[in-house]
Amino acid sequence: MPGEPDSCAAGGGVPAGAALPGEAGAGSRPRLAEPLVEGTVDGVRVAVPRGATILEAARLCAIEIPTLCHHEGLPPEGSCRLCLSETRGSLAVSCMYPLRESGFAALTRSPAVLEARRYVLSLLVCRAPRAPRIRKLADEYGVSPDPRFMRDPDGCIRCGRCVRACRASGPEAIALCGRGFARLVTGPFGRPPEACVGCLACALACPTGKIAFSERDGVRRIWEREFELAPCPECGKRAFTREQLAFLGGGASALCHSCRRRLMARELGKAAALEAPGGPALLRAL
Ligand code: SF4
Ligand code: FES
Repeated sequence: MPGEPDSCAAGGGVPAGAALPGEAGAGSRPRLAEPLVEGTVDGVRVAVPRGATILEAARLCAIEIPTLCHHEGLPPEGSCRLCLSETRGSLAVSCMYPLRESGFAALTRSPAVLEARRYVLSLLVCRAPRAPRIRKLADEYGVSPDPRFMRDPDGCIRCGRCVRACRASGPEAIALCGRGFARLVTGPFGRPPEACVGCLACALACPTGKIAFSERDGVRRIWEREFELAPCPECGKRAFTREQLAFLGGGASALCHSCRRRLMARELGKAAALEAPGGPALLRAL
């Protein structure tokens, strides 16, 4: 209808109890039982479970809000400030701002949002001028580094994703320490983290590629430490470090990801065949 806001999904939103993108992740809050609240993002009508964030509502409408510190599988921290949007006449951190009542209206590309996002990007690009994702965003928003803040760019934007990933994996080997320009991700007392098990969770979570690692001749190197990779008992491929398997405990499977997927598919296939008419006899004959 003319003048009516667009609806982001057939039927005007999500059905009650539907999962939002990323809801299954470790950082998500359980909201399945929450009632829906309705509002708009950039004029697009949307219904989300109460407590969902502006970012989640926008994603449900396929509206892109750039993010760096946010990761669907980790608790949100709101540290990079890139995902700003505008609601109730103020700027809001979209990945943290919960939508509690119907009637919300968020803008993701208003003049105030774009100006603030450009400023944030001009600071982030000073920290990590060579990070492909940040360079791409800087180009897109027509931003160059602010020379006043261009001090020893080390490629780290202090977003804490690596620290949260390490915490979620269990070892809690690294932390963000210090203040201001001296703030750094490091092991205890600035030394290589002894509790690190070489799982790569930090490096894979990092949005700038700051955490370097390498693998050669069955040895993984990260955080100035070396880890021997154990061979997969099925195919011999080296996927996990011995420390990682020990950390996960005796019951942990040392199978690589591909062999584990194959094994699961085989077991699921067997279970489905057992349910089918004549399945057990067929399985016995194989
Ligand atoms: S190393 Fe990467 S993930 Fe960790 S704080 Fe720096 S930019 Fe973020
Ligand atoms: S993505 Fe929201 S503050 Fe970083």
